[in-house]
Amino acid sequence: MASANFAGKQAIVTGAGSGIGAALCRALVARGAHVLCTDVDVDAAERTAGGLGAQARSARVDVTDAAAVQQAVDDVVSRAGRLDLMFNNAGITWAADTELLTLEHWNSIIDVNIRGVVHGVAAAYPQMVRQGHGFIVNTASMAGLAAAGQITSYVMSKHAVVGLSLALRSEAAAHHIGVLAVCPAAVETPILDKGLITGIDGREFYRMGQRSRQFYAPDRLARDTLRAIERNRAILVAPRKAYAGWLLARYAPGVMQRMSIRFVARQRASQQAVAPAAHTEGMTA
Ligand SMILES: NC(=O)c1ccc[n+]([C@@H]2O[C@H](COP(=O)([O-])OP(=O)(O)OC[C@H]3O[C@@H](n4cnc5c(N)ncnc54)[C@H](O)[C@@H]3O)[C@@H](O)[C@H]2O)c1
Repeated sequence: MASANFAGKQAIVTGAGSGIGAALCRALVARGAHVLCTDVDVDAAERTAGGLGAQARSARVDVTDAAAVQQAVDDVVSRAGRLDLMFNNAGITWAADTELLTLEHWNSIIDVNIRGVVHGVAAAYPQMVRQGHGFIVNTASMAGLAAAGQITSYVMSKHAVVGLSLALRSEAAAHHIGVLAVCPAAVETPILDKGLITGIDGREFYRMGQRSRQFYAPDRLARDTLRAIERNRAILVAPRKAYAGWLLARYAPGVMQRMSIRFVARQRASQQAVAPAAHTEGMTA
């Protein structure tokens, strides 16, 4: 897919039941695309698709299940003859001092945030190579470009997504396939309140990280993402004020590390001020 026109394009969005995924579905349909809205929470996926008319359908897809992701791709290709856009967006997070993470936490984030994207690429990319065009959009995060403590497993997973996206992009270009890593700072979605272990206040955590009270709006991010696809960009860092963090991490990693150490210290001080909540097991964010 070269650029510009989303009208009539065939798209799949994972994690479409909430937040950024739902906003991507709305933006795509508004631009004339046909979208398969998928989520492990099928009711949520249905709610997203239900509000979007005939251009949207829904399906239960758990991205940790490679066969289910493949089935979603096959479904679109058998109906439309092609898949133009694949949004590997589903994700979870864990926020805690790293010694509190169990192997279950580590494995769940590897399964959803890394394997989930791998499953999307493994299912969609060969089809796009066969058809000679396409665009893969992987929702990473600023945490894929800069490292902050207390979200170690999340940072690891999003660095993997950025690496996968950039490496794939360099060989996909020859097949007229674009690859974009979306790297937003904190976005106003339910994930900010999920995956919190031992009393961390997610909103305070991310607010302190970005030194601003206001979070980026998911519908704005979705519009910025479609614009980045049109421009065939490799990485979308958004909102604009997040650029400073990216540049600092790239060009002054020592300074960034020292800032990160101070950030964790400030976080710990503010976390001691609140009573520890019950350990939040099995949450997907
Ligand atoms: N909100 C932010 O601040 C922010 C910032 C940067 C990146 N991101 C990334 O954006 C993506 C979307 O997050 P969001 O903020 O919209 O969160 P969200 O919690 O609102 O939505 C995530 C969706 O993913 C779904 N999901 C979880 N596990 C799944 C699985 N195994 N299979 C399929 N679907 C699954 C959930 O049911 C949910 O509907 C994630 O990859 C997240 O890491 C979010």
